[in-house]
Amino acid sequence: MFRYLKPYGRYFFPALICLFITAGLSLAFPYFMGELIGGSMGRGGEVAERGSVVANINRVAITLACVLGLQAFIAYWRIRWFARAGESALADIRRETYGRLVRLPMAYFGEHRVGELSSRLSADLTLIRDTLIQTVPQIVRQTVMLAGGLIFILIASWKLTLVMLACIPAVVLLMAVFGRGIRKQSKHAQDQLADTGVIVDETLQAIANVKSFTNEPFETDRYSKAMGDYVEVTLRAARARALFVSFIIFALFGVVTFVVWYGAGMLGRGDISPTQFTQFVLFSIFVGAALGAFPDILSQIHKAEGATERVREILASDPEPAGGDADAAALRGEVAMRGVRFSYPSRPDVEILRGVDFEAAAGERIAVVGPSGAGKSTLVALLLRFYDPDAGEVLFDGRPAADYPLAALRDRMAIVPQEVLLFGGSIRENIAYGKPGATDAEIEAAAEKANAHGFITSFPDGYATLVGDRGVKLSGGQRQRVAIARAILADPAILLLDEATSSLDSESERAVQEALDALMRGRTSIIIAHRLATVREADRILVLRDGEVVESGSHEELSAEKDGVYRMLAELQFDLRSDAGAAV
Ligand SMILES: Nc1ncnc2c1ncn2[C@@H]1O[C@H](COP(=O)(O)OP(=O)(O)OP(=O)(O)O)[C@@H](O)[C@H]1O
Ligand SMILES: [Mg+2]
Repeated sequence: MFRYLKPYGRYFFPALICLFITAGLSLAFPYFMGELIGGSMGRGGEVAERGSVVANINRVAITLACVLGLQAFIAYWRIRWFARAGESALADIRRETYGRLVRLPMAYFGEHRVGELSSRLSADLTLIRDTLIQTVPQIVRQTVMLAGGLIFILIASWKLTLVMLACIPAVVLLMAVFGRGIRKQSKHAQDQLADTGVIVDETLQAIANVKSFTNEPFETDRYSKAMGDYVEVTLRAARARALFVSFIIFALFGVVTFVVWYGAGMLGRGDISPTQFTQFVLFSIFVGAALGAFPDILSQIHKAEGATERVREILASDPEPAGGDADAAALRGEVAMRGVRFSYPSRPDVEILRGVDFEAAAGERIAVVGPSGAGKSTLVALLLRFYDPDAGEVLFDGRPAADYPLAALRDRMAIVPQEVLLFGGSIRENIAYGKPGATDAEIEAAAEKANAHGFITSFPDGYATLVGDRGVKLSGGQRQRVAIARAILADPAILLLDEATSSLDSESERAVQEALDALMRGRTSIIIAHRLATVREADRILVLRDGEVVESGSHEELSAEKDGVYRMLAELQFDLRSDAGAAV
């Protein structure tokens, strides 16, 4: 945390100094209060002159007022500077955590749920912020009060101080023991809270599913149960804390009572003056209050520690490898896989690709067909280097993918994914995502080529139309065309189309197909499609089944293959559509 505070040292350190000053000045309060109250009673029972008493208490009151004014002034700046340093540092932590989060490998996201991750970013970091801005000043203030008060009492009576100090080791030991338990439970509580957040996130994202399956009661139950678990855990943590705090309070006020009782005896014997006694009592209360504040401070720190642990976990996770330094900009677009075997890290025992071999020359069109779950999308994910193969190699222009800088390599590819999720902004922004900084003319040209210009301009707001959360305000086919426009704008060397036209009606599909044909010219294209009509034009067709390439060749070659998988698929599809069947 302090590493992040360093850049804001010019606010943080003055604020810290101010904090020490105001805390020190707080000690003046019991001191002058003691003078004021004790002074009004006269000196140790002597009958003091009335006028001198009045003059004396006036002087003390004015001094106290000045001290309070000064304290107030410094406190104002202290709080402002502290907030400035703390909030800025926290914003940096948030930025870095987020920056790290989006750079984590895909495997990480397979193992963690989105709701949990966003909870870490918001709830955990808020906890850290509170600690930084509220607890740190508390620690300093209470420490100064404790030390100052003890010194004062020590000067007044070392015996009393020893009595007080004797109780401290026991208290500290208890704090340590309880603290561990509280910390564990508060981490547990944060985890539980994140779980409830996950449910909210997931169900709201898929609210249409929840409603259409009338699963509201089920989800409400699920949430309510998770909430119940959370409450149970927090209550358990609260019980530990309550026990701890109440014990401390009892012990502390016991000590204070004892000290005051002892001091009252000294006053009775005439060992100390009323002023000293009053100061004594006030300081004892302050010391007691300071000691009493520590359990809360400690439990807050333990909570923050639980939270930082989770944030640190993100910061410590390895980001995606940066890759080598080969020139990806000069990529011609040859793509090859050699004996690629792969299983998802989250399910290591199921091998999805089992020795895939293929080669695509620059500018070639390779279609990949095969039954659902065969591993087609996985193959695309490996080309994008979302994952690295367990065995075998992915090659670009004959060089291993790892030779190229990861970001530059991905820059040379564009994907129209199977499920298009747009960002919550305008259509224009969503298309420009393929090429940040694109001009309006470029964006419109791309939309035109993707056969999207027509439907976009039919909206009252045109390109400024907001697409809603993840693009819900657009139809599936419209979203797909926006994604195609995005890919066109990106102008990649390698084009990856994963069911790019699956959500289009035949007419739009034909129009978009033409656009894609134009787009694919001069680029290596990997086309995944269920509808074989869209892959017939490909230079080569790979039939993927159970993670293996079982057939490969042109449409004509594969159709001629007796008992071939492709032929069987083709017959099934084209028989159902007599016009296309005639074409075969
Ligand atoms: N992130 C993941 N973690 C674990 N397993 C996965 C993951 N994604 C996909 N799989 C599994 O990998 C297998 C292949 O999935 P893939 O998405 O590549 O199939 P596909 O050929 O694209 O199918 P479809 O035609 O239905 O899109 C499936 O059995 C699937 O369950
Ligand atoms: Mg798929």
